[in-house]
Amino acid sequence: MEKNCDILIKGGTVFDGSGTPGVAADVAVEGKLITAVGDLADWTAREIVDVAGKAVAPGFIDAHTHDDLAVIEQPELRYKVCQGVTTVVVGNCGLSPAPLGPRQEDIAPFTIFRGKDASPGGAPRYPTFGAYLDGIKHAQPWVHVVTLVGHNTLRAAVMDDLFRPANGDEISAMQAHVEEAMSAGADGFSTGLAYPPGLPAPTEEVIALAEVTASHGGIYCTHMRDEGLGLLDSIDETLDIGRRAKLSVVISHHKCSGKVAWGLSKQTLPRIDEGAKTQEVHFDLYPYTASSTGLMADWVEEAERVMIAGSEPVPEAAGRDLAELAAEWGCTVPEAVERLHPARAIYFKMDEADLERILAHPRCMIGSDGLPGDRHPHPRLWGTFPRVLGRYVRERGVIDLATAVHKMTGLTARVFGLERRGILAPGNIADVVVFDPETVIDRADYENPVRLPDGIERVIIGGEVRYEH
Ligand code: ZN
Ligand code: CU
Repeated sequence: MEKNCDILIKGGTVFDGSGTPGVAADVAVEGKLITAVGDLADWTAREIVDVAGKAVAPGFIDAHTHDDLAVIEQPELRYKVCQGVTTVVVGNCGLSPAPLGPRQEDIAPFTIFRGKDASPGGAPRYPTFGAYLDGIKHAQPWVHVVTLVGHNTLRAAVMDDLFRPANGDEISAMQAHVEEAMSAGADGFSTGLAYPPGLPAPTEEVIALAEVTASHGGIYCTHMRDEGLGLLDSIDETLDIGRRAKLSVVISHHKCSGKVAWGLSKQTLPRIDEGAKTQEVHFDLYPYTASSTGLMADWVEEAERVMIAGSEPVPEAAGRDLAELAAEWGCTVPEAVERLHPARAIYFKMDEADLERILAHPRCMIGSDGLPGDRHPHPRLWGTFPRVLGRYVRERGVIDLATAVHKMTGLTARVFGLERRGILAPGNIADVVVFDPETVIDRADYENPVRLPDGIERVIIGGEVRYEH
């Protein structure tokens, strides 16, 4: 074997992504690939990087993102790459940028695609999923992109009235869109059944589309109908869809939302384990007790506190407390919501004990759910991965380092069927992150959400060094 390579990462502790404990090993990168892992003391390289005392892991896979347009508009995706992320899954929560028409414009959840820099005409629209995938290819994003086609988007594309179940013709039209998306290269299908455009859809409608997805070997990811008191019913519905459509399911951002639902994870996790005996089911989580999405009056009520992440008519409201704004304006909270629309918000409404219980479960992957378009985004956009490694591994000891890396790499690659990624081994794509387990931490918080993390030292994507701290 030739003992020469492009980049030699020497002297670190390798966490290979499989969940097994770290081992002292060197890593050789040649071109786009990892060519050797082990004691490479007698190797030479164009560039030798000494990483003594540091951890070396496969590039992190963000299991749940809304980077759909960001990968095209800002291909360097700085807020993710700085965290060690080298692959993102887009098209979540039933929202994809294709097939997208003008009618979606004013529906609250779709505003997550409209950033602060969005042109007056709104975000670019892709009439077919194939056109969107071409857009990604053309933009050459640094990260690898895994795509899902969204149910809410499909409903808006084919239905004149979103607030009822789809009829037979509309289901056929949506099936044709799923067929087009999957044939063009989508990896799966997603729903956002909690959002107004998805809520009226009966389970059968979802199954009809999931079946088309399954026929292409795709996956089903769902922001479930109810993440509050109806959480267990929602899990049953999700498992039912997976069983009947015969595909692997992912419960998005698993949480117990609203004080009345706190503690329900003690029941949801055994319920999921029960399902897992006969079908493929996993979930993802972001390590925060506040959620973030479009600003909607109904959702404001169940939160302890609401912070504005971005508002188109009132940009200066970003970062402000909603109740304070209403008081300042001398209006009711619903009136303030109306004035701010279209807007996004941060809702404080989960409990730390549920978060830690969910994170520790072996079927839990890490997904940021970050919203890149906001002026004052939820800190998960810049902080998720270092926060898991710093706060939940080092400080709180909820999981160990090898397990945390597995939840960001090998597990996620297996669930989404990603070949040659997620495991640091010869022959795989050279997506590699070097970090310091003693210092890694998020620095983005609710007050200052746009901050680089500490301790992520070097990120290599497909053999290219893309970030150095
Ligand atoms: Zn969601
Ligand atoms: Cu989401």
